[in-house]
Amino acid sequence: MPEQSATITAVSHYVPEGRLTNRDLEKMVDTDDRWIMERTGIRERRIVEQGTPTSSLGAEAARRVLSERGVEADEIDLIIVATVTPDMMFPSTACVLQEKIGASNAWGFDLSGACSGFLYALATGAQFIQSGRHSKVLVVGADVMSSIIDFEDRATCVLFGDGAGAVLMEAAKGSNGVVDWILGSDGSGGPYLYMPGGGSLHPPSAETVERKMHYVHQNGRSVFKFAVRGMIEVSESILQRNGLTPSDLKLFVPHQANMRIIKATAEKLRLDPARVAVNIDRFANTTAATIPICLSEASTDGTIEEGDLLLLVSFGAGFTWGGILLRWGC
Ligand code: ACO
Repeated sequence: MPEQSATITAVSHYVPEGRLTNRDLEKMVDTDDRWIMERTGIRERRIVEQGTPTSSLGAEAARRVLSERGVEADEIDLIIVATVTPDMMFPSTACVLQEKIGASNAWGFDLSGACSGFLYALATGAQFIQSGRHSKVLVVGADVMSSIIDFEDRATCVLFGDGAGAVLMEAAKGSNGVVDWILGSDGSGGPYLYMPGGGSLHPPSAETVERKMHYVHQNGRSVFKFAVRGMIEVSESILQRNGLTPSDLKLFVPHQANMRIIKATAEKLRLDPARVAVNIDRFANTTAATIPICLSEASTDGTIEEGDLLLLVSFGAGFTWGGILLRWGC
C-alpha cells in the first residue's frame, strides 16, 4: 500500500460548563488566587458535574469534529482515545465513545501516555493513514482529572481541569500534515507523578481508599524541572534534524501544565510570546486534552492557516515526552 502524508483535516474541542475559579478554591483549601496565578498562571478550570465520564466529553468533541468536516460517524475507520481517566478499566473508552457517536465501522483502543497521550495518539493514528490502511482516523484526547484529584490537597487540586479535544486525520492532498515526530519515555520517572491505587498492583480496597491512593500523587518541584528540560530538548532535537529554527514556526503548542514551564521553554527557544499557544489561565491542565484544545482554538480564531508550520510539544507522567512538527491544512 502507498505511503502518504497524514494530516489533520478537522479539529474541535469540548469543555464542561462548570467553572472552578481560584476564589472558589480559596474556600476549599489553604490557598489564594495570587499564589495560584503567580506559581501556575491558572485563573480557573472547567469541572464536570460529578459522574460525567470521559467518554461523554470525548464524544461531544468528536461529534463537533465530524460536523465541521461534514463526515458521517460510520465513515470512521479507527478511534484512538488518549486518556488517564478512562470511564472504567474495561471496556475501553474508545469502545464506549464509538457507541455514543455511532461509529459502527470503526475499531479502537485507549492509549495511556498521560500528558503526552495526545501526541502519542496522533503519531500512532498517522501511521494508519500513511500506510494507506485507513482513510479516516479519529484521535481524541480527553480527561476528567477532577475524578482523580484530591480536593483537600492544595498542591495538586489547583493544577488540573476537565476537557476534551478531537481531530480527524486523513491523507494529505499536498505537502501539509505530519512532517516529523519524536516520542520518548523514561520509566524511572514513574515515582515522581502517579496514581498508585486501583490497578493490579494495588487493587481497590478500603485501605487504598483510606490512604488516598486513587488520587494523583506528585513531587511538583521535580516534575517541574524535568518538564522544562524535556520540552526544551525535544523541541531543539526535532527542529535541528529538520533544518529549522524556532523562527520558522507559526505556532508553538506546548502542553499546558504550568505557565512557568511554558515561559521557561519558550524563552530558551527564543520564541516570540505571540507565537506560543496559551490557554492554561482558562482551562488549567486537562492532561491529554491540552494540545488539541489549543489547536482547536487557534484554528477557530484564525491564528493558524493553511501551510503554517506548528510544533506540538509535551512532557508528562511516565515520564513521557513528545514533539510533532506539523504543516497545518488538508
Ligand atoms: N497554595 C498556596 N501554597 C501552596 C500551594 C497552594 N495551592 N501549593 C503548595 N503550596 C506551598 C507549599 O506547601 C510550599 O510551602 P512550604 O515552603 O511552606 O513548604 C510552597 O508553596 C512552595 O511549594 P513548591 O512545591 O516548592 O512550589 P513550586 O514553586 O514548585 O510550585 C507547583 C508548585 C505549582 C506544583 C509546581 O512545582 C509545578 O507546577 N510543578 C509541575 C507539576 C505538574 O504540572 N504536574 C502535572 C502533570 S505533569 C505535566 O503535565 C508536566
